[in-house]
Amino acid sequence: MSVYEAELVVDRREHAADGVLALTLRHPLGEELPAWEPGAHIDVLLGPDLERQYSLCGDPADRQVWRIGVLREPEGRGGSAYVHGELRQGDKVRVRGPRNNFALEPAPRYRFIAGGIGITPILPMLAAAEAAGAQWTLLYGGRTRDSMAFTEELGAYGDKATLAPQDERGLLDLGSVLDDLPEGTLVYCCGPGPLLDAVEERCPRGRLRVERFQPKDQKTGPDSEFEVVLERTGHTLTVPEGVSVLDTVRAAGVEVLFSCTEGTCGTCETDVLEGTPDHRDSVLTDEERASGETMMICVSRCRGERLVLDL
Ligand code: FES
Repeated sequence: MSVYEAELVVDRREHAADGVLALTLRHPLGEELPAWEPGAHIDVLLGPDLERQYSLCGDPADRQVWRIGVLREPEGRGGSAYVHGELRQGDKVRVRGPRNNFALEPAPRYRFIAGGIGITPILPMLAAAEAAGAQWTLLYGGRTRDSMAFTEELGAYGDKATLAPQDERGLLDLGSVLDDLPEGTLVYCCGPGPLLDAVEERCPRGRLRVERFQPKDQKTGPDSEFEVVLERTGHTLTVPEGVSVLDTVRAAGVEVLFSCTEGTCGTCETDVLEGTPDHRDSVLTDEERASGETMMICVSRCRGERLVLDL
């Protein structure tokens, strides 16, 4: 599977809100960038062992540039500190992707809910919903108005987009959006874990699509040893307790793509040929989990003694 990877130039670096930078990336030779759809993200390779995922939040029709929004996270693992502190206009940065785990499915009606930097994947979805003539509303929360990015762009949508800074309006009124959902409405939500958990609790199953930037707390089974057979490369390996399938496979010299290693980005998704995965990721939907056709090998394990993977 070949995935686009290139060194792009930081074309613009703009203040988008308190603690949020908008970076516009361009190919140094002006080459077109791969096509993408709303909900897609890219991996930004900031250094050895420093890879982060950022949602594309520009215009998919503009193949010359990609735009991402980066929140400064003082408690983060160094990616945002690097972008905010060191990455300058004109610098080069290596990127991979795009990949989409949060695609906008066709629907007559949408409810979009965004918390903080979770507005980034939602932004191009609004434009797409608008262009498709769908009925939609956005409820967008943030700590304060100044911390909320892209509010000027949202102003163009009038009262379809409701801004709800927490210091002015308290916690998001999810009931106003999720109770009595009209037939055919899909709900798209991105933001901090507690917001996603609250929305998941309130929204009818099957209607909700979420994207998590942090791994979801999972109730998992025992972390016991099992066997994994790699059908294409002919390896039979033992995945010990406490070691991931990904690490086991890599240790055997088999090359696999991965990025976040915490079950949020979807890069390591692998086809399952036999066996039942013990899903521990934050990407797959309930239906995808139940089908057992694929798994994220960076975190997920086996509900039995043996898995056969398409590797
Ligand atoms: S590497 Fe990101 S989900 Fe596995």
